[in-house]
Amino acid sequence: MLSRVQGKGLLRAVQTARAVRCGASVPSGSKPWSDVELPGLRTPPPIVQDEEVYSYLTPGIKKTKVEDLASQWDNLGFSIRPLNGYVQYTHTNRKWDMGTFVPAPYILLHINSGALHYGVSVFEGLKAFSCKDGKIRLMNPSLNALRMQQGARKLRMPEVPTDMFIQGVSEAVRRNKEFVPPYGHGAAMYIRPLLFASGKMLGLAPLAEEYTFFVTVMPAGSYFGNKGSEVGIDALVMEEHDRAAPMGTGAVKAAGNYAADLDPVHYAKGEGYGTTLYLDAKERRYIEEFSVCNFVGITKDGTYVTPKAESILASTTNKMLQQLAMDEGMKVEERPIDFDKEIDNFEEVGMVGTAAVVVWVRSLTRGGRVFKKDKFDTLSRLRQKLTSIQCGELEDKHGWMLEVC
Ligand code: COI
Repeated sequence: MLSRVQGKGLLRAVQTARAVRCGASVPSGSKPWSDVELPGLRTPPPIVQDEEVYSYLTPGIKKTKVEDLASQWDNLGFSIRPLNGYVQYTHTNRKWDMGTFVPAPYILLHINSGALHYGVSVFEGLKAFSCKDGKIRLMNPSLNALRMQQGARKLRMPEVPTDMFIQGVSEAVRRNKEFVPPYGHGAAMYIRPLLFASGKMLGLAPLAEEYTFFVTVMPAGSYFGNKGSEVGIDALVMEEHDRAAPMGTGAVKAAGNYAADLDPVHYAKGEGYGTTLYLDAKERRYIEEFSVCNFVGITKDGTYVTPKAESILASTTNKMLQQLAMDEGMKVEERPIDFDKEIDNFEEVGMVGTAAVVVWVRSLTRGGRVFKKDKFDTLSRLRQKLTSIQCGELEDKHGWMLEVC
C-alpha cells in the first residue's frame, strides 16, 4: 500500500523537476529541486523499499513570466496564471503540520476525498496591494481567518488558527511577490485560501482524517472587468432558484453555495444580464445577495442599507465600507429589505465583495418590471476611499492594512 506521504514525496519530486524544467525559480536559501519547506515542516516517514508503490505525473506547466505581464497590469482580468507556487498545510492526527511551498498547481487527492464527494470545503478571498511607499500589504486578513473558522465549524473541519492563516497567506504573497501588480494600476494580488477534507469519506460518518489548507495567489484586476465597474451591471432577480436555505450554509463561504449559483448565473448571462440577485428562500420577499457579492443600497435620504439574514455571507468589504460610511457621518442600517416595498427608495444600488470591490448595479429586473438606478455617486466615493486606503494613498485609520514585505 502507498502511504500518503510516500505518494506525495513521489509527486513532489516529479512536480518540482517539471516545474524547474519549465523555468520555475528556486527561492534563494532553499534546497534546489525540492519543495521549499516552511519552518518546522513534518519529516516524512522513510519509504520501505520492498513495498509496491504508485507514482503519478503532473502535466508540464508553463510558468507565467513577469515580463509578459508588464503590458497587462491594467487589463489583468480575473483569471488563473501559474506562478511560483502555493502554500500547503496538512492536518492529520489532530494537528496541523508546519506547511510546505509547492511549485506545480496540482495536488494528489484520494478519489474518495470528502471535498470531492460531499463538498466539505470552504474558501476565502482577500487581496495584497503594492502601496505607494513600495511595501506590499494585505487588507484585513484576520476577518477572513475568522470567517474561515466559522465555515470550518459549520462543515465539521479543523479550524485554521488566525496566526497560521496569516502566516500562510503572507508566505504565499512573499514567495510570489514579483507577480503582485505594481502600484498605480488599480490591480492587486488576489489570494485564495482553501480548507477542505482531503481525506477519504465513504459516508458522512466517520469524518475524514486528513484536511488540507492551501493558499494560492493570482494577480487580478476587476472581477466584472474594467468596464463593468464603470458602466454598471444589470441584475436579474431569481424567482425559481435559491442560493441558500434560511438555516443552511449561506453564511459561510462553503464551495457548494457557489455551485448553487452556477446554473442561475449562466442562465442570467444567456439572457443578457450581468449577475443574479437572490431573495430569501422562504418567502421570496427579502433581498439576500447577488451571485458573488453583498447588496448595498443608498436611500434617497443618504442611508447605507444592507440586508441582514442568517443565510447571507458576511462580506469583509461590506464591513469596511460600512465603517467608511459611518466615518463620513452617514447612517448605516443592516436589516431585512423587502424588495417590492423598498427597491424604489434606493437611489443607488451596488454589489460589494473582495473580487468585485464595489460595482454599480444600474438595473434590477424582477418578473417583467425593470428598476433602473442611474446614480452611483455615494458608492463610487466610498469605493474610492477604500481603494485609496488599499494602496496607501489615504490614511489607514482603522489599522486594516498589514505589511508583508
Ligand atoms: C470574492 O469576492 O473574493 C469571492 O470569493 C467571490 C468569488 C466567486 C470570486
